[in-house]
Amino acid sequence: MGKLFYGTQTGTTEGVADAIKKYLPNLVSEIKCIQFAKREELEACDFLILGGSTWGDGELTDDWLDFFPQLDLMSFEGKKVALFSLGDQTGYSYNFVSAMKLLYDKVIERGAEVVACRVSKEGFEFDHSESIVDGHFVGLVVDEVNEPELTDARVKTWAEEVLSAVGNSAVAV
Ligand SMILES: Cc1cc2nc3c(=O)[nH]c(=O)nc-3n(C[C@H](O)[C@H](O)[C@H](O)COP(=O)(O)O)c2cc1C
Repeated sequence: MGKLFYGTQTGTTEGVADAIKKYLPNLVSEIKCIQFAKREELEACDFLILGGSTWGDGELTDDWLDFFPQLDLMSFEGKKVALFSLGDQTGYSYNFVSAMKLLYDKVIERGAEVVACRVSKEGFEFDHSESIVDGHFVGLVVDEVNEPELTDARVKTWAEEVLSAVGNSAVAV
């Protein structure tokens, strides 16, 4: 079973979560804001998509910050996780989508296998992002502030990576 949990400050992420589900209908059975999620719901999944917008100065959104300590109580052993972040490459060029790395580091620390985590930087213009490992973003990146017209194609390309990584091992519901 796969579910998507997202954080948001002003609601933009919800639309991106919908777009992700559109391309992964058999892997994502539910979309939920992390504000309303219980730890047990995440624990019940063998595949998770986690993400949301980057806020503050490269920080997670308030709802994720509230939930974050619960991740330390969870084991992600045997779970596959795919990550995404919204950001603003122009306004926050020095910390573009950096919050995604906070989730990346935490789920790896808790035993997860992160999939679809070699996303090209091509097409983005920014000075710095914490969310780059070995020259690639660690998950899907979209910029609804400056390039909303590119979001659908970016989601589709990444969703194909997710599908090939998770494939049949996640139970479609
Ligand atoms: C106060 C504020 C801080 C932000 N900080 C960052 C940041 O550090 N890095 C980044 O890439 N985007 C940053 N953004 C851009 C948001 O991630 C972007 O507007 C996003 O689409 C908001 O999504 P949401 O409505 O789901 O929260 C910031 C935006 C605001 C208004």
